[in-house]
Amino acid sequence: MRKKIIAGNWKMNYTLTEADNFVNEIKDRINTDKVEVVLCPNNICLDRISDIIDNTNIKLGAQNVYFEDKGAYTGETSADMLLSVDAKYCIIGHSERRQYFAETDEMINKKAKKLLEKNIIPIICVGETLEQRESGVLFEHISSQIKNALEGISSDDAKNNIVIAYEPIWAIGTGKTATSMQAEEMCKYIRDEVRKLYDEKVADGIRIQYGGSVKPSNASEILNMEDIDGALVGGASLTNDFVAIVNYD
Ligand code: PGA
Repeated sequence: MRKKIIAGNWKMNYTLTEADNFVNEIKDRINTDKVEVVLCPNNICLDRISDIIDNTNIKLGAQNVYFEDKGAYTGETSADMLLSVDAKYCIIGHSERRQYFAETDEMINKKAKKLLEKNIIPIICVGETLEQRESGVLFEHISSQIKNALEGISSDDAKNNIVIAYEPIWAIGTGKTATSMQAEEMCKYIRDEVRKLYDEKVADGIRIQYGGSVKPSNASEILNMEDIDGALVGGASLTNDFVAIVNYD
């Protein structure tokens, strides 16, 4: 049985004080019995949030990593640095990073491999634009993002140590959620692709989240779909709505 995983992607929000107040306010109201819960604050807040959630079952995640170990890469953060604050997860390949910071499939694959080497679980984001969906290249596009991201990753890692987040770009921050059927259709397709790349066991083990305008009013419908193993939540992870989402029925 795959345990659902719900991650809050704070993006570039919250100062240290704001983050501290927010997590102290929500942490005891989050039920982690049936859902694995991950908070992904900005890098400035990682260490503080790590301390605040230390005696809970809430896990820490980062929003990005660089694939080199150390050196002259101004502004970047290494996987060892993430380990030093006890990060267990790291989002990679978010569409905002692909779009605004020119991240390529190749870079995302290198980041995934570096994280796995350091025992941090990558949350690999994939998703299509509205144009891609409407012009019919949707499945081809997602299939190639998945193949490229998983290139050279062992079946053991793919089965146990990878999370894929399907996030249609047209649904991110727009209030426009994919219908639960559209989300399920794509998560199932991704699982089928993983089966082709590996085998039944990997397809069965890998966790696939949906992301894009997840909110309390649609969480339960989306999260109860068969092939949707959780959610990557942006805007709603910054408010009390996050508590309602993780405690869904
Ligand atoms: P959203 O963002 O929930 O604000 O749509 C999701 C994401 O980008 O991860």
